Amino acid sequence: MQRNDDIAHAAAVLRQGGLVAFPTETVYGLGADACNDTAVAQVFAAKGRPQFNPLIAHVADLAAAEKLGQFPPLARKLAQAFWPGPLTLVVERTADCPVSRLASAGLTSLALRVPSHPVAIALLHAFGGPIVAPSANASGRISPTTAAHVRASLGSGVAMILDGGPSKVGVESTVVSFLDDVPRLLRPGGLSREQIETCLGVPLASATAGPLHAPGQLESHYAPRATLRLNAIAPEAGETYLGFGGNAHGPHTLSARGDLIEAAANLFGKLHEIDATAKAIAVAPIPESGLGEAINDRLRRAAAPRP
Ligand code: TXA
Ligand code: MG
Repeated sequence: MQRNDDIAHAAAVLRQGGLVAFPTETVYGLGADACNDTAVAQVFAAKGRPQFNPLIAHVADLAAAEKLGQFPPLARKLAQAFWPGPLTLVVERTADCPVSRLASAGLTSLALRVPSHPVAIALLHAFGGPIVAPSANASGRISPTTAAHVRASLGSGVAMILDGGPSKVGVESTVVSFLDDVPRLLRPGGLSREQIETCLGVPLASATAGPLHAPGQLESHYAPRATLRLNAIAPEAGETYLGFGGNAHGPHTLSARGDLIEAAANLFGKLHEIDATAKAIAVAPIPESGLGEAINDRLRRAAAPRP
């Protein structure tokens, strides 16, 4: 766990426009002062993002979020039920929202999230304003769930990395948009569709193909260097197998007991680990229920043809 003076130092780096990688319960984020245009631009540069895709602004609580975005009643209901936690809400910006327009990629909307990791919360309190943070990896690569992953992927591009241990959830937040008349699931993630729909009392509409090409919506994303074959019952010659539940061949498994929460937590770490040596990875079938929707989304993108 971080010492208080590390947190204070990180907040000072952010205030000076620098980048700080920090742990969240989902994945590690690459943080910058959300209200500083230059700092936000540096986030895109450090990640090598091909275009200005919108970023999530992280805040300490719902009250801070409501200063930046306009919450319809159902969005507020979800925030009250699941914040702090792995849920991002896309709402219209308030008229006097101070967050950089670049973070919204020119849109009138803003993505907001209150993370639950104690180091992230401490950093938000010490800094005292919104922090934009995409996942702290080079664009298109596997997301980081440890400080070592961040160092390997971004290294010198980051002024400071706060180490808060492995991310517990392991996949990015679920992104729900409240921009039209129905709540819309833009990205499956660490909070399951079922939990959200139970709270809302209405089904989530699915993402429509729109003008927005956000990173989580690109076909190839989260890509290991090795090739990836999905729904594999057993490895073929030359493949390293990543098992789940009863499907086990060799030492690697997302969850030996077939637990989807454990599998989500292990997903990116296992891909990083196997990718260090393997040329080809075969992954066991993962059920589509609960966090399986997010796991399968990330696996499909990791396996998609590379640009
Ligand atoms: O768990 C997470 O969400 C992590 C941690 C660090 O908080 N962050 C993360 O950020 O995954 P990033 O930049 O890798 O993904 C942000 C996603 C994009 O896929 C994009 O679709 C969506 O959030 N997004 C952001 N702003 C949006 C907006 N104004 N409208 C629609 N989608 C937006
Ligand atoms: Mg990402």
